[in-house]
Amino acid sequence: MSMNSKRPVVIYGANGFSGRLVAEYLREYNVPFIAAGRSREKLEDVMNHVPGIETADYEIAEVGGSVDELVKLFTGARVVCNTAGPFLYNGPRVIAASLKAGCHYLDIGGEQAWLRAVAKEWGEKFAERNLLAAPATAFMSVPSDIAAHISLETANIDTLEILTMFKGIPTFGSTQTIFAVIPTEAYYLEQNQYKPWPRATPYEVVVPGSITTQLALPWGGFPHPVWFKDHPQIANVRSLGGLLDRQIMETIFATEKHFEENIRPLSKEKQEQALAEMTSSVQGSTPPRENTREHRTIDVVMGRGSTDFVKCVVFGTCCYRQTGLLQAYAAHSLIHTPPRKVGFAPATAAFGHRELQKVLESHGLSKVKVYS
Ligand SMILES: NC(=O)c1ccc[n+]([C@@H]2O[C@H](COP(=O)([O-])OP(=O)(O)OC[C@H]3O[C@@H](n4cnc5c(N)ncnc54)[C@H](OP(=O)(O)O)[C@@H]3O)[C@@H](O)[C@H]2O)c1
Repeated sequence: MSMNSKRPVVIYGANGFSGRLVAEYLREYNVPFIAAGRSREKLEDVMNHVPGIETADYEIAEVGGSVDELVKLFTGARVVCNTAGPFLYNGPRVIAASLKAGCHYLDIGGEQAWLRAVAKEWGEKFAERNLLAAPATAFMSVPSDIAAHISLETANIDTLEILTMFKGIPTFGSTQTIFAVIPTEAYYLEQNQYKPWPRATPYEVVVPGSITTQLALPWGGFPHPVWFKDHPQIANVRSLGGLLDRQIMETIFATEKHFEENIRPLSKEKQEQALAEMTSSVQGSTPPRENTREHRTIDVVMGRGSTDFVKCVVFGTCCYRQTGLLQAYAAHSLIHTPPRKVGFAPATAAFGHRELQKVLESHGLSKVKVYS
């Protein structure tokens, strides 16, 4: 790499559990990258342990959190992969800097409120510059969105029920994000209109391949109602999900209930204070690397029309690895060819749902089955 040609991809939050997986897959795609974050020491420590990293073309960049500092770092690159969540908190300055620096923006945020903000504030601005803004290019959106589009190909449907579940230990960042979405409004889509989910309400769900039911939550609403808001065919979307671990889901539900009963009635200021206290009580730890035989995932889409029905199930494994791969593939694609859609768009629209499924499938991370 010559001194004046910048590496085309920046991972912001590269030392995180997800960021390091993006690095691992960028190496597979032979994409030179900058591993950025707020601590050189942490970045070096983590990058030194990425499998195969000795053959990657990368550099480490410690960067301050202001928009100006980020613009300086991003300028000359082509794609920013933002893995520093919660995106409700950290997303705005990173997306602002990406646009200013003329970079495509990808992130792994699943927070519906963040997606609605990106659609509203940033969609047109990115489109005007022929740039993509694709939040939620990650497990908790893409495989289920792939299944939704395969369902649309298969049957004449206007209604989607979506379930996204995974087995694993939530990372520090994921836990922070679970807290961050609690005060936000979670919407489903009914006749193309956003409708608020009842708060702190869990649902028993049926997971194909399992005898017992699981507990799922609307968890901030999921991205899908936003993706389908103005869809010409799909008018109703409900998304639920969570961990394939009833005990963890009971705990998250209890936290939501505690928030509704004791914190929401307080002033905005006191709410924020209480939420910050709850969040900081969580211990920051990094879970072990995922195991394909253990950390399985499942996405279920039920499509319904007046007289038609389809069920599409994605059997998968290792949700964080799926996320790393999706980011790396998207970044690789963007530096070689323009996206199919610019502005605010899901990864399925920018890169093709069949293409993304082939990527996941060819890495042994998921397989689609259609029942109609
Ligand atoms: N949608 C999905 O399917 C999906 C999948 C995976 C992850 N996620 C989301 O992605 C986010 C990251 O998850 P993770 O598992 O990688 O968490 P993690 O291991 O805790 O890593 C978080 C990363 O973000 C950085 N960060 C946090 N706050 C920051 C701030 N204020 N300024 C700069 N950097 C900051 C951290 O840097 P430090 O180490 O310096 O704190 C770290 O590099 C979470 O929001 C999670 O919910 C979503």
